[in-house]
Amino acid sequence: MTGGAGYIGSVVAARLVAEGHDVVVLDDLSTGHADAVPRGAMFVHGDLRADAAGVLNGGIEAVLHFAARSLVGESVANPALYWASNLGGTLALLEAMRVAGVRSIVFSSTAATYGEPDSVPVRESAPARPTSPYGASKLAVDTVLAEYCLMHGFGAVSLRYFNVAGAYLEGDVRLGERHARETHLIPNILSVALGGQEELSIFGDDYPTADGSCVRDYIHVRDLADAHLLALAGCTPGRHAVYNLGNGNGYSTFEVLAACREVTGTEIPARVGGRRPGDPAVLIASSELIGLELNWRPERDLSAMVRDAWDFARWRWRDGRA
Ligand code: UFG
Repeated sequence: MTGGAGYIGSVVAARLVAEGHDVVVLDDLSTGHADAVPRGAMFVHGDLRADAAGVLNGGIEAVLHFAARSLVGESVANPALYWASNLGGTLALLEAMRVAGVRSIVFSSTAATYGEPDSVPVRESAPARPTSPYGASKLAVDTVLAEYCLMHGFGAVSLRYFNVAGAYLEGDVRLGERHARETHLIPNILSVALGGQEELSIFGDDYPTADGSCVRDYIHVRDLADAHLLALAGCTPGRHAVYNLGNGNGYSTFEVLAACREVTGTEIPARVGGRRPGDPAVLIASSELIGLELNWRPERDLSAMVRDAWDFARWRWRDGRA
């Protein structure tokens, strides 16, 4: 697994270990944390280009590829970094896989491949018109994966995540979002609840939505992890499958704030500011296809996501780990 020291990768690693898989995590720790790699997984601190081949020669059966740059704004400011890392890094990985004879891969893709959708819910057949180098670089990987399936007999599954939230709390294993520069809505709201920030800035209330704020489809990271296990088992030689992953429900920024106020029992001051460039008004997934083909169903709602994210945030805060 690449990127297994990051938020989503570490949760999937923990689930795989819990299911009895042997897991090797390759991560350069550019954004991840070594202590997020779950006990029971082997950790290799290294780089995709330099180190993937060595790891793959150690009897690996399949790859889950999470390692990537994932900030939309940063990608607009520095596209070259995103192309080099997200496309260049993946090309190096795929070539190393081809040489080592490892042909199954589950790839972390994103709703950002669609850009501003014409209609919601967004199906996999919707036009892919990314509006950022981040989305474009992830979409380019899908083109390459399709070719590797066709030309080299790979079996690949791309999972297009919508808004991932929540945490993995199991015994003494606690994994959640801990980005150096936090841009995501729920951790930002919870940081205000904990006193880490004075108020939440709401990015625009003049969108064509019911309450004027953006609407997103939030999915619990545990539901997302379950989908990865199914995708891994569903890799079929010669086939590149693409699935959306969301709940199929949209929540506005104001609704998410209300859910956080309810769960935390705190006021959470908020102020409406300007729009964030590049934010689509509404993004809601249709995850019907992965339901039909892999029998995946999301099980956790928005309050479960907020509750788990809140438990995780408080635990880090209490232990001075923020
Ligand atoms: N928001 C705020 N204030 C904040 C943070 C977010 O109002 O402090 C709003 C945003 O404008 C957006 C919503 O909350 O409407 C969710 O924002 P996030 O940053 O949490 O998530 P995004 O929808 O921007 O990002 C997600 C994924 C990205 C992906 C993108 C595609 O996290 O990886 O969708 O649009 F690229």
